[in-house]
Amino acid sequence: MKIAVFSTSQYDEDFLREYNTGHQLVFFKVSLSEESAVLAAGCEAICIFVNDVLSQAVLEKLQQKGLKLVVLRCAGFNNVDVAYAAQLQIPILRVPAYSPEAVAEHAMALILTLNRKTHKAYNRVREGNFSLEKLMGINLYQRKVAVIGTGHIGQAFCRILKGFGCEIKAHDPFPSVEMAKLGVKYGSLADTLKDADFISLHCPLNVDTQYLINESSLQHIKPGAMLINTSRGGLIDTQAIIRALKSGLIGSLGLDVYEQESEFFFHDFSELIIKDEQLSQLISFPNVLITGHQGFLTQEAITEIAKVTFGNVDAFVAGAALVNRVKLQN
Ligand code: NAI
Repeated sequence: MKIAVFSTSQYDEDFLREYNTGHQLVFFKVSLSEESAVLAAGCEAICIFVNDVLSQAVLEKLQQKGLKLVVLRCAGFNNVDVAYAAQLQIPILRVPAYSPEAVAEHAMALILTLNRKTHKAYNRVREGNFSLEKLMGINLYQRKVAVIGTGHIGQAFCRILKGFGCEIKAHDPFPSVEMAKLGVKYGSLADTLKDADFISLHCPLNVDTQYLINESSLQHIKPGAMLINTSRGGLIDTQAIIRALKSGLIGSLGLDVYEQESEFFFHDFSELIIKDEQLSQLISFPNVLITGHQGFLTQEAITEIAKVTFGNVDAFVAGAALVNRVKLQN
């Protein structure tokens, strides 16, 4: 199949070439949008990532140019009009769980860094400043951690927390029996947020979870708690979180995703002005740590993404069962 691969970094190209099962790949650094859709002319498939926009308008354009298949190099699909793709009978295939540990470990890295302020210590020591003022953290041992969403990543995160000796509370409409056996206590969102010293979001972004963390749910949070989001930016109302940071209600914030990330993340803006007031404000806060959607970025995860992506394409070509097809009710 001729496949147009959008939003490619060098590592995408390297891994996709290595695990290619014989398809013709055309790589584009740009993200998929109404403007860039024309690049996929003549390709029967497109391979896209988290910030490519597959709206109704884009799908219409691509279908006219011969699109038959969409393969996602990720698990989340909030950027895809799944209902319209189903109407056009274009299957959307994803990589449901390439390495939950990669993202779970990154969530823990954000917690450890923010809590023990190793990012600040690193800079201080490089300048010959060995003062410990303002570097104090808290023990994770026996602290309460709220995990919102205990699917693949949430469960991997709970197992890590168990190793640290944390008390784990969780909220999920479909509680996991395995996690309950591990000692995870399930409750309502309000109950789970209450008393937690650390909160980590691991649920998908959809109509029910949009702005899950907003002015009203923030009222349930223990003042000074740390909030971590490695899931999707739209889970948090950014305006509300900035207010909560300013008032001290939120003690610290670790983000690997941001509501308006598509314009900035995965690109180098180091010589440019960031024209997003909220993002600039968040970057300037001393108790906010932002990484640019790198939770998935481990060798194991990228290898698995490449293998599963070609497995998905090969299944489509062979007319086999599409086990990784995104369903309307996913
Ligand atoms: P999953 O589908 O295995 O688990 C999601 C869980 O969230 C399910 O157990 C589901 O029941 C639960 N859930 C649904 N609605 C909920 C709600 N309202 N409140 C609480 N829980 C709810 O998904 P997985 O693989 O664990 O991934 C989670 C999210 O992580 C993905 O949707 C994606 O947005 C994000 N992600 C981020 C990456 C990164 O690089 N930062 C990489 C991969 C995924």
